[in-house]
Amino acid sequence: MPVKVLEEKVVLEHPSGSSAEVYFYGATVTSWKYQEKERLFLSEDTHLDGTSAIHGGIPLVFPQFGKASNPSAETAELPQHGFARVSRWEWQGISVDSDSQVSVRFRLTDAQVPEALRQKWPKKFRLICTVTLAAETLTSTIEVKNEDTKSFDFNTLFHTYYLVPDISKVSIKGLSNVTYFDKVANGPETLDTDDSITIDREVDRIYIGVPNDDVYIDLGYGTSGNFILKTINLKDKVVWNPWIDKSRRMSGFGDEEYKKMVCVEPGTVSSYITLNVGETWDGGQTLSIIP
Ligand code: BG6
Repeated sequence: MPVKVLEEKVVLEHPSGSSAEVYFYGATVTSWKYQEKERLFLSEDTHLDGTSAIHGGIPLVFPQFGKASNPSAETAELPQHGFARVSRWEWQGISVDSDSQVSVRFRLTDAQVPEALRQKWPKKFRLICTVTLAAETLTSTIEVKNEDTKSFDFNTLFHTYYLVPDISKVSIKGLSNVTYFDKVANGPETLDTDDSITIDREVDRIYIGVPNDDVYIDLGYGTSGNFILKTINLKDKVVWNPWIDKSRRMSGFGDEEYKKMVCVEPGTVSSYITLNVGETWDGGQTLSIIP
């Protein structure tokens, strides 16, 4: 299957008309097309030149989600969402190329992390990010290996931005009866008893310990083009839309673009994963289109 390796990104193409693009910067997926139609949001104002985190697509969060709330956490000095999304990853080539799918791999070790950030979390590690394109699915996985002499703690998350025709038509199902932490109000933890989540204001919630691996996302396209999000080994889900005021405050994000996106982000962020010396940990997500 065609894979084009360009200077800044890799482009995957599937004979069915699906395609994906992954930047070396952050191993960020910036485009996923199904039936030649874009499915991921990418801000028109974002920087793609490696000067700041990409707003859109699927940035990878590691080893800290947000800013650490505990000042004694190992990751306390790191900037919001850690360093994986602002480091240039190394191309590792094609790992699977069959009639039905193609997988490409990227690697990040401590040696590739910008020095100023590496000093804030001086651990030895290796990350492998694999992106797999099939006719109706896009899968991203991350493998974390501890190559240090001590155990370490980390968060990770797939910060997935969905492109939507109209935010007022979006509805997210599968998080009912799950407790969430409201980041806008800074708490408290609340049980969500609604059948589905709709967005009509700033929403920034961490759903903690989601029992369902599958979340159904109606992006408002009508009868076709909705999604099932499946996750592997990731216990939390973040639902985020910045709405009006936060959009205005964010750089690299247009003032009106909140109407065209919603983030549903699987990760493990409500607590840290502890990884012992020499061990590896894997997690991932699959986005499936319901034709
Ligand atoms: C979400 C967070 O995951 O990412 C939000 O829950 C945050 O609080 C958003 O605003 C975007 O973060 P950033 O650093 O890319 O602007």
